[in-house]
Amino acid sequence: MTRALPFGALDRLAAEHELDIWEGDLPPGPEVLRERTADADGLLSLVTDPVDADMLAACPHLKAIANMAVGTDNIDLEAAAERGIPVGNTPDVLTDATADLAFALLLALARRIAQGEAQVREGRWRTWEPASGLGADVAGACLGIVGRGRIGDAVARRAEGFGMDVLASSRRSGVPLAELLERADFVSLHCPLTPATRHLIGSEALARMKPSAYLINTARGGVVDQAALRRALIAGEIAGAALDVTDPEPLPADDPLLEAPNLLVVPHIGSATVRTRERMAEMAVENLLAALAGHPMPYPV
Ligand code: DGY
Repeated sequence: MTRALPFGALDRLAAEHELDIWEGDLPPGPEVLRERTADADGLLSLVTDPVDADMLAACPHLKAIANMAVGTDNIDLEAAAERGIPVGNTPDVLTDATADLAFALLLALARRIAQGEAQVREGRWRTWEPASGLGADVAGACLGIVGRGRIGDAVARRAEGFGMDVLASSRRSGVPLAELLERADFVSLHCPLTPATRHLIGSEALARMKPSAYLINTARGGVVDQAALRRALIAGEIAGAALDVTDPEPLPADDPLLEAPNLLVVPHIGSATVRTRERMAEMAVENLLAALAGHPMPYPV
């Protein structure tokens, strides 16, 4: 296990198996991960742990990988499949929490929440003024959802409740991405990170967006070309962006992206509610217990 997880589900794992739990506050580096997994039968990994072909080659006994996440871009799935190692993830249980965060970021951008809070704390709020702190209307605005899986659908449901018009674009259906980018007032990303989606939102895509439009990313940092995003925010090509995910994570405090105006960044907290994380831990444990007992994983990738 690449991290001590403070959840009851681990007792079930400990009752049947010997656990080797990485004791660091930060994730183990690749070499340590390889060494510590060399004799392991199962691995419980997090999004912070790259599980690549080299690592798998160094772990000849591995029979199961349970990623405590729905995303699996940290795992080389092909290399695992070649070795016959099943990989499990934790879908569904984080859909609402992540959709809530996407919507919270959308509302925060639209209503300039971070700027307003800073103004109050720094003593810069002088009085109620007719034309200060003005944001964008959400009702009646068009939300473009890129990637219409479970989380994209959940965001669409929230948007409908807020009186927004919703456009969606995915690999197989919906409007073409270029059209979505041109029409949307808010663009929210919900696609997995794959070679095809890496830097999907780069200079060209950002240039298609309206200067009044906002970008929200709760998917994976790599879907956005951050250098291009920085340029677009500085040039006023788009009105603002909110990121729950960045590349790298954590984003260093001196990263040039953070100099961009109208940028809100939070630390990958899409699934961070107590109940969601407890359920994710349970599912990861259930995946490991099943695979180590020679059964199919209940939540296989
Ligand atoms: C996931 O599950 O993929 C999230 O990014 C972390 O909860």
